[in-house]
Amino acid sequence: MTVSVPPAAANARRVFIKSFGCQMNVYDSQRMADVAGKEGFSETERIEEADLVVLNTCHIRERASEKIYSELGKIRELKAERAAQGRETTLVVAGCVAQAEGREILRRQPAVDLVVGPQNYHRLPDLIARARTGKVVDTEFPLEDKFDHLPPASREATLARGASAFVTVQEGCDKFCSFCVVPYTRGAESSRPVEKILDEIRRLVDAGAREFTLIGQNVNAYHGRDGQGRNATLADLLASAAQLPGVLRLRYSTSHPNDMDEGLIRAHAENEKLAPFLHLPVQSGSDRVLAAMNRRHNASDYLAVVERVRRARPDIAFSSDFIVGFPGESDADFEATLALAREVGFASSYAFKFSPRPGTPSSEATDQVPEEVKVARLAALMDVLDAQRHAFNRATVGRRFGVVFDKPGRHPGQRVGRSPYMQAVSAIVPAERAGVMTDIEITGVISNSLIAETVANAS
Ligand code: SAH
Ligand code: SF4
Ligand code: F3S
Repeated sequence: MTVSVPPAAANARRVFIKSFGCQMNVYDSQRMADVAGKEGFSETERIEEADLVVLNTCHIRERASEKIYSELGKIRELKAERAAQGRETTLVVAGCVAQAEGREILRRQPAVDLVVGPQNYHRLPDLIARARTGKVVDTEFPLEDKFDHLPPASREATLARGASAFVTVQEGCDKFCSFCVVPYTRGAESSRPVEKILDEIRRLVDAGAREFTLIGQNVNAYHGRDGQGRNATLADLLASAAQLPGVLRLRYSTSHPNDMDEGLIRAHAENEKLAPFLHLPVQSGSDRVLAAMNRRHNASDYLAVVERVRRARPDIAFSSDFIVGFPGESDADFEATLALAREVGFASSYAFKFSPRPGTPSSEATDQVPEEVKVARLAALMDVLDAQRHAFNRATVGRRFGVVFDKPGRHPGQRVGRSPYMQAVSAIVPAERAGVMTDIEITGVISNSLIAETVANAS
């Protein structure tokens, strides 16, 4: 029997988007999918059937950035194979590598058709059309706000993305930590107005989203205009979001220790929707290194913030980012980092070897740490952080909390959601409880995920 493909499906154009790097890129990828959707592209997870391929790239460390070129090499072959079958493929490089390297990408990989920086995704339809007749690079920082021009997600797209949604509330960074490319790739700090963010959350709630992570490169520096034209803080924004019907849990990421103001700390005591979990990168425990990093806080400032948040919200847990092998980092400096990690006791963390990035002040430092020292320090720090994560996971056994389950789990009847502490939780949950807050008790830990049973629902 021959299967006839309906003409609509045969003609439908498909887009494949792959996201690298941080949550901001995940959000941006979704918005690009929404733009492409409006242009008639349906999303596919199979790159070989895509007419439009978008790599949303990350420039933060050398490895992340170089990975893009090996991906592009593979896609070039795919593009040639498709061309041999008479199918056109438009290859787009978006994100932070696009912003940082621009035209250089076309030189290194001529199969690329379009290079577009993170501030220009609203122009994609026009840029893609232009890319049909010649190479296009758009890495301007435009005057108009891309958010005013990006289409909202369709209901189907939101449903497919599950009960948990990211919402970008702030972009860019003015902190200029000496190792970091973000202020150059994402530009100056800017905040979206409160009402626009609330509208976006309302729309996402209507389409089934229940947990919201407000994201920004420097999210706690948020200072958007509210309905009365006043400057709202992140705490104000979280308070307004918490009032919206259907919003069951709120988080925010990523924060800088210096922007943990009194109001935001109080929000952890007062805002019942706010998860008791805070990602608060410290980078190093050594005051000397922190100063060289231009972090503008020392180790005891950081510990004081942790202490104040804990007083406001005793069941809070912290996660962090660390860099080892920053230029000039001595054994004693590194010991100070281990000591800080031990003192705080993190629920989970990321640790990275310092990667000198073009254009950043620390890349030019003459006292670079040898690779083998970086490797050894990373391993030593990971030992401490992994042990802390396991201890934290084990300590949640027997605890009860609410979880919004959405995605199907590995076993029949099982669903997966996130604990208030961002741990993956699996439980057998009746279908009608998908997307609602379900009270559970943690009964066990399997590697990094928690197993739970439902208990009589109080919430
Ligand atoms: N805005 C956030 C995170 C930015 S990037 C913040 O202020 O913390 C995410 C993490 O990547 C950083 O926290 C840092 O730990 C790491 N990172 C950034 N630049 C790096 C570099 N040049 N080498 C190694 N790690 C880096
Ligand atoms: Fe980079 Fe520092 Fe800004 Fe974070 S605060 S994005 S590490 S410059
Ligand atoms: Fe990477 Fe850009 Fe995010 S450099 S970490 S994708 S802001």
